[in-house]
Amino acid sequence: MASKKERILVTGGTGYIGSHTVVELQQAGYPVVIIDDLSNSNIDVLDGIERITGIRPDFVEASCTDIEALSKLFADYPDIRGIINFAASKAVGESMQKPILYYRNNLNTLMNLLELMTPNNVKGIVFSSSCTVYGEPDVNPVTEQSPIKKATSPYGNTKQISEEIITDVINAGAPFKSIILRYFNPVGAHPSAEIGELPNGVPQNLIPYVTQTAIGIRKELSVFGNDYNTPDGYCIRDFINVVDLAKAHVIAVERMLTDKSDAKIEIFNLGTGNGLSVKELLDSFERATGVKVPYKVVGRRAGDIEKVWADPSYANNVLGWKAETPIDDTMRSAWAWQKKLRERGIM
Ligand code: WQD
Repeated sequence: MASKKERILVTGGTGYIGSHTVVELQQAGYPVVIIDDLSNSNIDVLDGIERITGIRPDFVEASCTDIEALSKLFADYPDIRGIINFAASKAVGESMQKPILYYRNNLNTLMNLLELMTPNNVKGIVFSSSCTVYGEPDVNPVTEQSPIKKATSPYGNTKQISEEIITDVINAGAPFKSIILRYFNPVGAHPSAEIGELPNGVPQNLIPYVTQTAIGIRKELSVFGNDYNTPDGYCIRDFINVVDLAKAHVIAVERMLTDKSDAKIEIFNLGTGNGLSVKELLDSFERATGVKVPYKVVGRRAGDIEKVWADPSYANNVLGWKAETPIDDTMRSAWAWQKKLRERGIM
């Protein structure tokens, strides 16, 4: 069955969203090859993917900024017809300190891939973008037509520039398609607890900090501000289950490769449509797991958006996709993953 579908190159495929997407692709019958430089992930992720799907994806350890390594990969796998590009640096704070690293890594990766697609007969590329392109929206929920605001970090800027590069290349007549997916806040782990989010060092994002505090690795969570102009004073986000998010990629790949649409470039918001405050998310975690997370409210974090959530109706209607996992189930999955890491002596 697997051999009927076309091969997909997943860049950054051992990372958080990448690994969950490889699982969904393999379960849908797509042969996959991963390229990852392991700069923010671990080779053991391949074991987790294999335990869930029974298939070990092919893997090349290299950076997509290395065009020679990429060219060799395409020569070794002449059957690649689609790309999902997750490979990128993604820490907002770090990008303020190391802008060149971010521009070089994220933009060179994309340009190398786009350049090699045509000579290698690749039909389409799915690109991981972000709700950061909307900045602090004037109106919520945001649709794909909501204004793009000036990026507040080099990381956010790389996502805006990447969207423009893809658009320019396609408008210049490139013989392939692209689907740009703007993610809101992905959280949770695979229900098997075989794969999940495993950031290097001290977590920057909320949920890994919450689970590491709950298990005792961190003393307490610092909540960045409860004096925002929101009903309970805490920031509001659209937290989307990572497996729901991964599934949208399989639909996007299928749409690109089977000519379900004539559009050469399409953009979709991937969110739930529900805004949840940081406090409501903590309540959900405690309700779902029975574990209380010690926290204290501290000052606001520079650069934080007050509130943003998606209008996902375009993705719902056009892709026939919907994020449906209840948030309590998602929180339970994040906790099960953290406990699995402890069981295995990893964290
Ligand atoms: C969520 C909320 C924090 C940590 C980032 C990227 C975005 C996207 C997802 C990227 C905020 C609060 C957090 C903590 C806290 N894509 N918080 N204490 O900033 O919404 O978005 O990740 O990779 O592009 O910018 O996510 O998880 O960092 O924060 O109170 O220790 O949790 O202030 O309100 P964010 P986050």
